[in-house]
Amino acid sequence: MKYYLKTYGCQMNVHDSEKIAGIFTESGYGQAEDMKDADVIVINTCSIRQKAEQKVYSELGRLKSAKKNNPHLKIAVAGCIAQQKGNTLFKKFPYVDFLFGPGNIDSLQKWIPVPSGTGQACKTHITALHNNPEYHTKTLPIKREGQVKAWVSIMYGCDNFCAYCVVPYTRGRERSRPSKDICNEIQNLAEQGYKEITLLGQNVNSYGKYLSESIDFPDLLKVIHDVTGIERIRFVTSHPRDLSQKLIETLRDLPSLCEHIHLPVQSGSDKILSLMNRGYTYKQYLEKIEMLRSMIPGIAITSDIIVGFPGETDEDFQHTMNALQEIEFDGIFAFKYSQRPDTAALSLPVHIDESVKSQRLSMVLNIQEQLTYKKNKALEGKILEVLVEGPSETDSDKLTGRTRSNKIVNFYAENKSSNRSNRSSSSSSLIGRLIQLKILEAKQHSLLGEVV
Ligand code: 5AD
Ligand code: SF4
Repeated sequence: MKYYLKTYGCQMNVHDSEKIAGIFTESGYGQAEDMKDADVIVINTCSIRQKAEQKVYSELGRLKSAKKNNPHLKIAVAGCIAQQKGNTLFKKFPYVDFLFGPGNIDSLQKWIPVPSGTGQACKTHITALHNNPEYHTKTLPIKREGQVKAWVSIMYGCDNFCAYCVVPYTRGRERSRPSKDICNEIQNLAEQGYKEITLLGQNVNSYGKYLSESIDFPDLLKVIHDVTGIERIRFVTSHPRDLSQKLIETLRDLPSLCEHIHLPVQSGSDKILSLMNRGYTYKQYLEKIEMLRSMIPGIAITSDIIVGFPGETDEDFQHTMNALQEIEFDGIFAFKYSQRPDTAALSLPVHIDESVKSQRLSMVLNIQEQLTYKKNKALEGKILEVLVEGPSETDSDKLTGRTRSNKIVNFYAENKSSNRSNRSSSSSSLIGRLIQLKILEAKQHSLLGEVV
């Protein structure tokens, strides 16, 4: 039997899909390349912005004919939309069989039929959307997408209740995984040859809250650093309010922790930050940036920006533009504010016109494009350590990897005059290795390098 899995949304969701795939694989399923060859289809959904939600509904609409063509087909909807919309999804899409939330992925184990045919056929209109209090203590099978880098969940959910954000309502309250489980998982990854791990959580800086063991995020990083042969450790996402001096010192002192932090600022206006319930002022954010840069020279800092949050005047928006110029992030993700069910921002007065949001978004993206290019340009001529990940997506003759600061570098494994078969064998031997590359040229979204 075969499963087909489609994923929308963030890294957290992509990693959840690795768990979903792990459960199918452990249950004896193969992966269908094409939806029409599948016995079970899972759509892992995202509801962070309306656009993401709309895409999922179109996808689910298309599944109606798939079910008509194959009445034995089973369809499951996972993720944040399943969690948030619950049974109402069955009304809109009656051919969906099973709904399970991000905190109940293990429920799939009981629902899917056993391929030998001895198991019970999966039942229809079943949900697993309750808040499973044990989920964070479970170890699920994981079918990982790569062999060099791996994601490891360290916590689930979020307690922050930023006024725009749906996540606390879909992923629930914050729960940290016990450190022993995390370390065992990472030890196994090191034994399988993984070189880099990214620790995942909505707010990794508050790791350890509510755990019975006495441990915080910097302590966890030290334990992970000691127990593994992993060469590089990264983490996402950090909340600026909870970024402590202790964490910055840990980042500075532990060699396998990479010099990059994703620290979403969201806005440069104190009024908007307060309406967003972010818990810091722009000045406090800037102080953290200064501390990071003075203690870890060369650290790359990336961020998220929301434009057009309710009440954002031209002046507020100008503060965000000024912040981008003042801080000079290495890169940003920028979004137009999108109304989300249940969130506090819905009831704020003065929602901003879509056309104004679009205009502000393009201004933000324009200025950041120049700043990112400037940052990349400053790396020309430098020799940087790169972890080789595999063939480049845009040019299969090249390999691709990332610097410790998380910048993509594309390069030829050998010089271009060597013949193709020599090139490909030396290419594959480099995958998973840390090598030194000289940066030849900065591009907008990547760097071009050559082997030193
Ligand atoms: N509208 C626009 N952007 C949002 N984000 C989260 N919720 C919303 C929303 N309702 C952005 C934030 C967050 C990133 C993951 O998505 O910038 O940091
Ligand atoms: Fe990830 Fe948030 Fe989308 Fe859920 S809603 S998948 S947590 S981005």
